[in-house]
Amino acid sequence: MQKKYYLLAPGPTPVPPKVLAAMSEPIIHHRAPAFVKVFSEVREGLKYLFQTKNEVLVFASSGTGAMEGSVTNTLCKGDKALVVRGGKFGERWAEICGSYGVEVRCIDVPWGHSVEPEVIEKELKKDPEIRAVFIKASETSTGVMYPIKEIAEIVKKYDNTLMIVDAITGIGVFDIPTDDWGLDIVVGGSQKALMLPPGLAFAAVSDKAWSFVERSDLPKYYFDFRKELNKIKDNQSAYTPAVSLIMGLNETLKMIKEEGLKNVFKRHTRLAEATRAAVKALGLELFANGTPSNAVTAIKAPDGINGQEVVKVLREKHNITIAGGQSQVKGKIFRIAHLGYVDAYDIIMVISALEMTLKELGYSIDLGKGVKAAAEILATEM
Ligand SMILES: Cc1ncc(COP(=O)(O)O)c(C=O)c1O
Repeated sequence: MQKKYYLLAPGPTPVPPKVLAAMSEPIIHHRAPAFVKVFSEVREGLKYLFQTKNEVLVFASSGTGAMEGSVTNTLCKGDKALVVRGGKFGERWAEICGSYGVEVRCIDVPWGHSVEPEVIEKELKKDPEIRAVFIKASETSTGVMYPIKEIAEIVKKYDNTLMIVDAITGIGVFDIPTDDWGLDIVVGGSQKALMLPPGLAFAAVSDKAWSFVERSDLPKYYFDFRKELNKIKDNQSAYTPAVSLIMGLNETLKMIKEEGLKNVFKRHTRLAEATRAAVKALGLELFANGTPSNAVTAIKAPDGINGQEVVKVLREKHNITIAGGQSQVKGKIFRIAHLGYVDAYDIIMVISALEMTLKELGYSIDLGKGVKAAAEILATEM
């Protein structure tokens, strides 16, 4: 029998059957009324998801495209930017800024740790010329959540500074109310909690950020926010959109609206708590120090076991895809994701398979102990 395949990586994530069906509809022309109707619904759905009254721009790219656009549309050559590193995606902000001649100041936190908001306040006080703070809501490489609300409170006091958030594994997982918190750009990607294949990037842009767009002189062509804003008002995009993905997006946004954002966040909290409880019950340690993300759980590989081996056995023997560690934590951690189209039984299944895998790799384990800890949480009412 053909093996059943399970995807529990922090992107791409599984796509619901209803959404796959929507994406297999015949292609419609992107300037035709049928598409205009779909895009107008998508516009509203994105505003609901990002919790903003402003437009959420859509690009046919992976999430990094919208990250790059957030830099090139708001800054000028030689501008200063503050970047919080401490994982692969914090590093990406610094690399993008550096590529465009932006002067980067980095706050380096150890991998696995979050950042103290006071550190950002200190840097901004020292140099009010800093034009933007770049941060991530959830650092996927370490499984850490960052204190976006508290940092936004600080950045808001600086009229000449933007707060730009990579929320690629945050949006649709936990509460990130763009307008209420005064976030200037919030970036998302389709292949995470939006339950779609890779290929769409999003940027919610505040009024303050639009005023920065006016003066920005960095080169840009495809990722030109102004061009997209002009078109999106007519329910169009500047260039040929990823029509099938937009059809799927319309479905996933409807699913999210139907479930309600609050319930979506609660579901992610419960799945993450169950995963963390299971991991602890197995005598394993979380990699995140203090504020673990509800998108993905990073787990330290037990002594004597390479994290890549755990990933390999799960993939080859159990047909389950999780993620290993990247860069400096390769082999030291492995990551189980629980974002998007994931439910309680996915967690029970992956924990059970993890127990078998660890046993096979020589880790002393009571089979079922992790499953029991997870089930005890999952059995409670939401
Ligand atoms: C937090 C975070 N930022 C940025 C990215 C990059 O997104 P993409 O691979 O879609 O360009 C990812 C992807 O894993 C991510 O998890």
